[in-house]
Amino acid sequence: MTELTGAAAVVGLIGRPVAHSLSPRMHNRAFAHLGMDWVYVPFEVADDAVSAALAGVKAMSIRGVNVTVPHKTAVIPFLDELTPEAAAMGAVNTIVNDSGRLVGHNTDGSGFVRSLREVAGFDPHGARVLVLGAGGAARAVAIALARAGAERVAVANRTESKARRLAEDVARHGASSAGLSLAREPLAAELRAADAVVQTTSVGMAGDPSLPLDPDLLAPRHLVADIVYTPLKTPLLRAAEARGCRTLPGWGMLLYQGVEAFECWTGTPAPANVMREALLEALRGKEAEA
Ligand code: ATR
Repeated sequence: MTELTGAAAVVGLIGRPVAHSLSPRMHNRAFAHLGMDWVYVPFEVADDAVSAALAGVKAMSIRGVNVTVPHKTAVIPFLDELTPEAAAMGAVNTIVNDSGRLVGHNTDGSGFVRSLREVAGFDPHGARVLVLGAGGAARAVAIALARAGAERVAVANRTESKARRLAEDVARHGASSAGLSLAREPLAAELRAADAVVQTTSVGMAGDPSLPLDPDLLAPRHLVADIVYTPLKTPLLRAAEARGCRTLPGWGMLLYQGVEAFECWTGTPAPANVMREALLEALRGKEAEA
């Protein structure tokens, strides 16, 4: 890490827990690479301390923070402004302290879209996408895809009512949409016309061998993205590769939400390659330990 001076700028992460986060590695490597007098620090914040933590951000002139589970919605009442993306998603993952005004951004969805373009070479404009899951991550991804000009963003979820609710919100952002269950027939019909599938549920995480859909529904024309990044190659990504699909692993979204947060705070283009190396080193290290 670069030696800090008395003028160092501080950014960080608020959430609970934060000890597992890889964001300090990505951002501190980027600051060191650019010789910047900046540091990224994790702050564990209890549920009843969100307001105090944000008052502390202002009081100590912390330049910005990422926000992770479980505070992405809880921070909103304490912010001075939201970007249109964050307002549309009802969630904030990045706060910029603009001379005492706290502005809430959401770089999860836009970071995912950027990873589609930069890592997978896939342009979502005019594309037809099926999103699996209807939780917070699915909401960010689906709304960002609609805002990026996707023609259709269908949502399939174990609890169908949640898929329908998210689909209604997605349709307000210009894409055609539908909320489905995970039953085979509706998924098969949707996938016949789809260009991409984005997996946002926790299925396949950390040794879970299960798949969120029958892989025989996948065809080589599908790009298959999984936002789960532990393991680096999820069972779905393996099955998709075996069927000749292009794939986008979950580290793509994690990297580019960080790239975009870095750019929000510093106004400087982020060294994405350096951040990717830091992230993949850490993820490979975790895999070797497991
Ligand atoms: P996140 O913020 O990561 O999106 P979340 O909001 O808790 O987390 O959402 C979890 C998502 O994973 C939901 O879509 C959930 O489906 P339900 O709405 O039916 O609960 C989905 N999910 C979790 N476990 C699942 C499983 N075993 N099979 C299918 N979907 C699952």
